[in-house]
Amino acid sequence: GPAVIVAIDGPSGTGKSSTSKAVAARLGMSFLDTGAQYRAMTWWMISNGIDVTDTAAVATAAHKPVIDSGTDPAAPSITVDGADASGPIRTPEVTAKVSAVSAVPEVRAVITRLQRSIAAAAPHGIVAEGRDIGTTVLPDADVKVFLTASAEARAARRSGELGSTATADVAATREALIKRDAADSGRKTSPLAKAGDATEIDTTDLTLVQVIDRIVALVEEKR
Ligand code: C5P
Repeated sequence: GPAVIVAIDGPSGTGKSSTSKAVAARLGMSFLDTGAQYRAMTWWMISNGIDVTDTAAVATAAHKPVIDSGTDPAAPSITVDGADASGPIRTPEVTAKVSAVSAVPEVRAVITRLQRSIAAAAPHGIVAEGRDIGTTVLPDADVKVFLTASAEARAARRSGELGSTATADVAATREALIKRDAADSGRKTSPLAKAGDATEIDTTDLTLVQVIDRIVALVEEKR
């Protein structure tokens, strides 16, 4: 069938990346982790000595890094100025600073343009995951999904990814997640939000496979 566009949005820790990768792999589509692009921009700012709270400096520099995303769901990649950034974008420092950088309109303009060109070039369609894909980046997507989960479930999942399930670590992760989601939801330019025509899936009590199956079914209705 035609190249289907799938937008998957939601807060951190709802399983967006694992789910989106699996859906894309199952359907032979491309995959785009848009959070990785905002993280790459943030890593570049930090590496170049730019104070991420200096909005004007971030805005001026936003067009400088060359960010490239590999869209194979079996081996997604991200490079900045040709260098592999997949490790550095996951550090606690980048995670703590990414919401400030991604709130700057010039950053969003640069990255949104990049995302649209990647989606348009995907030969068998794309599963793009983030915060504003269904509302802003790809408002004409064929399938829009908004994933949610309780704060407890999200903190437990993210802690598992980070390799620690100790009570104090889960509590700290929960606080950091809530803070980042509040910043992402509260910003002026394309905040984290559910599109009016998105299907909401509460993943709190679902397994990864159950969520994948539901989204694959939604996509198959459109192909
Ligand atoms: O998904 P991930 O946690 O890697 O996203 C990192 C950050 O990138 C988010 O907290 C948010 O600030 C930003 N982001 C965004 N818009 C998107 C995807 C991510 O602002 N579409």
